[in-house]
Amino acid sequence: MNKLKNIYVRDSASQVARGAARFFFELCFQSIRHDGHFAVALPGGKTPEPFFNVLSSDEFMNTIPWKSVHLFWGDERCVPPGHPDSNYNAAASAFISKTGIPADNVHRMRGEDQPHAAAAAYEAELRRFFKGFKKTCLDLVFLGLGEDGHTLSLFPGSQSLNENERLVAAEYVEAVKSDRMTMTLPVVNNASNAIFLVTGKKKAGILKAVLEGGNESRHYPASLIRPTHGRLIWIVDKAAASLLKD
Ligand code: 6PG
Repeated sequence: MNKLKNIYVRDSASQVARGAARFFFELCFQSIRHDGHFAVALPGGKTPEPFFNVLSSDEFMNTIPWKSVHLFWGDERCVPPGHPDSNYNAAASAFISKTGIPADNVHRMRGEDQPHAAAAAYEAELRRFFKGFKKTCLDLVFLGLGEDGHTLSLFPGSQSLNENERLVAAEYVEAVKSDRMTMTLPVVNNASNAIFLVTGKKKAGILKAVLEGGNESRHYPASLIRPTHGRLIWIVDKAAASLLKD
């Protein structure tokens, strides 16, 4: 594994998936030791599928203390939970259904409800979970990277990018011609760990633009993920890293 700053370059997408599962495992035990639970936000899109499959393997299914894990989502498509586009559905069918995790620990964004009402309800759920804390502080947020530099459902030009008060926002996204719900930057940038998973040659251009684009990179929402006190980690495969100068 080649480690530049906090950029881990792995040989293949399946190696990226294993790396993500290892971080999940290590941070899970670290967080439970520290405050009795592990609050992690899962990513959407297709990239995490191999990662979810690694979590469903006996190696992780039988060793992670799922009863102390709280699963959140960084964003969700505004569709019912059983819809093929649902980020919840991808994780539930890949591994959650095997964990025996208590239903109350699965904090699903209700994509089937009216987007703004569902976003407000999710914000209330986050605030309830972190009650007594001044701010939300997820232990880990997994993120993907779109070819246009979006992450979560924070797209270039999204109104939600300017949100500094609300923790969860909803808006119609022209780029995908659909309503989306998303955690806002304050929540992700207050997390203890933010980990991007990026694989495939198609992402090489945008990964270079975000990581090596200097001032220009500010146009890409992914470059606005800058944890104020937490760690920012990239786990990428060689194909996605193929244009990076180092
Ligand atoms: C979503 C994600 C989104 C995703 C990127 C990359 O709901 O789609 O949150 O930010 O991570 O679009 O998607 P792929 O992994 O499918 O390339």
